[in-house]
Amino acid sequence: MTSEALQKARDFEAQYGPHIPAGERPAFHATPTIGWMNAPNGFSLYKGEYHLFYQYHPYSNEWGPMHWGHLKSRDLIRWERLPAALAPDQEYDASGCFSGGAVELPDGRHLLMYTGVQRRRDPDGFLQDVQTQCAAIGDGVDYEKISLNPVLTGKDLPAGGSTVDFRDPKIWREEDGTYFAAIGNRTEDGSGAILLYRSPDGLHWELERTLDRCGNQYGKMWECPDFFPLDGKHVLLASPQEMSPVGLEFHAGNGTVCLIGDYDPAGKGFVRQYVQAIDYGLDFYAPQTLLSSDGRRIMIAWMQNWATVGAKPYHCRWFGQTAVPRELSVKDGRLIQNPVRELEAYRGPCVMHRSIPVSGEVNLPGVQGRTLDMTVTVRPIGNERYRWFRIRVAKDGEHETIIRYRPDQGTVKIDRTRSGLPHDIVHTRSFLVPCKEGEIKLRIILDRFSLEVFVNDGEQAASAVIYTRQEADAISFEAGGSALMDVEKYDLVFDGEE
Ligand code: FRU
Repeated sequence: MTSEALQKARDFEAQYGPHIPAGERPAFHATPTIGWMNAPNGFSLYKGEYHLFYQYHPYSNEWGPMHWGHLKSRDLIRWERLPAALAPDQEYDASGCFSGGAVELPDGRHLLMYTGVQRRRDPDGFLQDVQTQCAAIGDGVDYEKISLNPVLTGKDLPAGGSTVDFRDPKIWREEDGTYFAAIGNRTEDGSGAILLYRSPDGLHWELERTLDRCGNQYGKMWECPDFFPLDGKHVLLASPQEMSPVGLEFHAGNGTVCLIGDYDPAGKGFVRQYVQAIDYGLDFYAPQTLLSSDGRRIMIAWMQNWATVGAKPYHCRWFGQTAVPRELSVKDGRLIQNPVRELEAYRGPCVMHRSIPVSGEVNLPGVQGRTLDMTVTVRPIGNERYRWFRIRVAKDGEHETIIRYRPDQGTVKIDRTRSGLPHDIVHTRSFLVPCKEGEIKLRIILDRFSLEVFVNDGEQAASAVIYTRQEADAISFEAGGSALMDVEKYDLVFDGEE
């Protein structure tokens, strides 16, 4: 049965969504049908197709009572719109259906697990959430909330666990049929923890253990966890709130953290060995993964930063987009991330320039555009050092987005100061890259409203939203000193856009 609230959202998006011209959206990054999107949810394979739900407020371009929007795809690049899947229409989720996960059940149905939020006034008059975990089951389009809801409440928390911050279940099913869910929580010292729950059927849950806790070291509340084996290690992803900056690794505010370690379910549990940021750019949060049928661990995320959600184009009718899905691997204790190979099917003809000497500004024939996949490899000329190397994209006389490499400092900087955002927000981010004798490889993915940079075959990634007018499509290269570069560039071509 479709509730009144869900029907209203479906009618609203069906009426107004089609009014947004395709050219005003990214070409291949997922956006909400209409209104607001934040975290990706329920990223899962169902009946051979990829399903992606998202935190959704269709009625405005601001965060509001959370619904689940819904998309599906065969290749993770082109997304088909489906009607909204969940609306806040029960007592236990009256203030929102927050983030969660999804899994295909053995009987062919699709199970969604999400956080139901009830906002209540505490005895001091302060408004506070009560967060519980809930389930809905459906057929890939329509979902019914189950009568058992909520399936996890405050009484299922470890001692001291907060019922105000208990959210974002990421669910998976193991080969022996057992279900697990990793859920974010706040502990008695105010810091974050990731709890692991177990279930025989995806509906009846019990606490297995605390997977890890941040002890106020990496932020406070840890949101949107994920936990999976990869290349002989176990990886725990979380999105901490209230991070303190740590060198160029972590910036203040909402961040992302990847913990790599070993997992012994019968013994010590998860023992972390390595800690790193997931994305070093300006806009990336709440990543979630799935396992593809060919065994790849694929991650998607919200390409946005909570601190800058006010910085949006005047009168925009959609806000929020996902990052390009990334294939993950672990090498030498680091998370390696590269765009999914499916993107390559959309490459047009190759434009290749090899061993181009750069000193001062260089423009190359055939190298411009706003929807493209370009790899630039830079190296010194003999023993001669260059001081810096700069690539400027989305450029006209007024605009530019800059990617700058400083081999002496071993830093890459993303600068979107002049990228169509007339707002006084953070526009630059620098991060450390391992020194490789002045050599660097930068893969740049541009869509109409974003820049994603993958450094040295995915050793680091950095994402940023831009709103530069589309006519600004020039690209230039410049070195302080002299360097040699190779450029391999493909337009990304999408016929018959929605
Ligand atoms: C992540 C998040 C989640 C929560 C949802 C609310 O950005 O804050 O923790 O479930 O968004 O929309």
